[in-house]
Amino acid sequence: MTKSISKRKFDVVIIGAGGSGMRASLQLARAGLNVAVLSKVFPTRSHTVAAQGGIGASLGNMNEDNWHYHFYDTVKGSDWLGDQDAIEFMCREAPKVVYDLEHMGMPFDRNPDGTIYQRPFGGHTANYGEKAVERACAAADRTGHAMLHTLYQQNVKARTAFFVEWMALDLIRDADGDVVGVTALEMETGEMHILHAKTTMLATGGAGRIFAASTNAFINTGDGLGMAARAGLALEDMEFWQFHPTGVAGAGVLLTEGCRGEGAILVNSNGERFMERYAPTLKDLAPRDFVSRCMDQEIKEGRGCGPNKDYVLLKLDHLGAETIMKRLPSVHEIGVNFANVDVTREAIPVVPTIHYQMGGIPTNIHGQVVTQQGDNHNAQVQGLYAVGECSCVSVHGANRLGTNSLLDLLVFGRAAGNHIVEFNNKNKAHKDLPADAADRTLARLARLDNATDGEYAQDVANDIRATMQKHASVFRTQAMLDQGVSAIAAIRERVGHINLKDKSKVFNTARIEALEVENLIEAAQATIVSAAARRESRGAHSVADYGDTPEHPNGRNDTDWHKHTLWYSEGSRLSYKPVQMKPLTVESVPLKVRTF
Ligand code: FUM
Repeated sequence: MTKSISKRKFDVVIIGAGGSGMRASLQLARAGLNVAVLSKVFPTRSHTVAAQGGIGASLGNMNEDNWHYHFYDTVKGSDWLGDQDAIEFMCREAPKVVYDLEHMGMPFDRNPDGTIYQRPFGGHTANYGEKAVERACAAADRTGHAMLHTLYQQNVKARTAFFVEWMALDLIRDADGDVVGVTALEMETGEMHILHAKTTMLATGGAGRIFAASTNAFINTGDGLGMAARAGLALEDMEFWQFHPTGVAGAGVLLTEGCRGEGAILVNSNGERFMERYAPTLKDLAPRDFVSRCMDQEIKEGRGCGPNKDYVLLKLDHLGAETIMKRLPSVHEIGVNFANVDVTREAIPVVPTIHYQMGGIPTNIHGQVVTQQGDNHNAQVQGLYAVGECSCVSVHGANRLGTNSLLDLLVFGRAAGNHIVEFNNKNKAHKDLPADAADRTLARLARLDNATDGEYAQDVANDIRATMQKHASVFRTQAMLDQGVSAIAAIRERVGHINLKDKSKVFNTARIEALEVENLIEAAQATIVSAAARRESRGAHSVADYGDTPEHPNGRNDTDWHKHTLWYSEGSRLSYKPVQMKPLTVESVPLKVRTF
């Protein structure tokens, strides 16, 4: 059956050309490996391009800072769900990966003495929570853009092979369970190919498009998550989704936390800087989960702004036009284009908006995908790596700190690249492809191409988004989550009946969209089922039923729920694994109640 399908062979196939994929491919191409990078879009249009505010690294260019503070802040930011070994690794490596980028030519903003400019960001502090510290290494408010272009140029120089407008479809696992490549669709021709590889890496970004109001690009459909789930692998901690406090109300477009880093403030309809009440030390620069909930609280208590009192305002005008145009030019542009507001003169309406997926495909610090074998939760899936937002290492736990996303891409992209180079040096031969390598994909395509009834993919996708927005938002309730589990299970049935045949209803991208919906549903179901099962509030997972009590401050229940969730697609089954509290070389940060 697979004989007529085109086959190509590589040392490494990377799915996704964002920051993590291109950081890994650079390491591999420089080492002389034959590496293919597949991307649904041109590499510099990957979603990393939208990251604005900075890369977290304790360079200490503005004030005293060190990786111990960064480590502590990240553990606390994660509401103690992050694995402390991985967090230590990331924070220690941070200055190195930033200087690497600098040496590649990344156009960082500069201080008068020539060092990299750094700004404060939410939850980043000096001296273990004492005061905000400048840790975000910034290129104006276009840091992701600058980083992606830098990495792309270096990859072109290193002769990485890019397959642009290719969509990976399914992992190929052999009889040992090892991954030996992927099936992929060349979008221009609609032809399916087998890419045979010693190592396959998922770097597909998050699945932010499972929600209706999202800062994420339309390409963020959780393709890597879908591929892993269909291949029988777990998705970890998918109940934890970050709402960014400052999405433009009604548009969803991100306004960087760098605004507040530069001195912008949030105000309610009374003109009050309300964060002073909730977080006396960090104020507007408290972590995102906390600020988002405070905004929601203001709106619920009637202090929202506008005719419907359903947003608050982000005020920047006091920073002055010169600072805004120098440090936050994109914010100015976004204000004009998406809210008809000139932020140098007036405040802009903002609401918490879905931004980032903390969970993902479980990995170790080398980017190797891990799975459970008996009591061992760290058994490696040979031949498979995952990096970036689609992975869960887990450094973000229940809530990521701003700027740790770009950092995560660089640190773990590089680490995975180095690890694969070593593996490749020891393993010269490819494992054979199994005879049924393409069968799963062929069956999926045949079902889609031959369907004669059913629904348009976008109708199903829109229902997934509306359901997730309604049932798994900033504030959750147990009843809403439970209803969401049934609603998403019902939509899952419909995903199996998508129809491409009614040409009056579909555009020429319908086949791709239908394949994406099969990934969206895995991410959505993993999220809602994991969330409904977690009977506590922790980080971004805030459930009204589990509020602040003397026994469980902030609703967090460490006795029963200080553990990672693992969701499996088959039977929508859950399992759990312990949080790694032991760092690599230092004392662990013991469990504590979070206050700011
Ligand atoms: O606010 C921002 O610039 C976003 C940064 C991040 O998500 O790390």
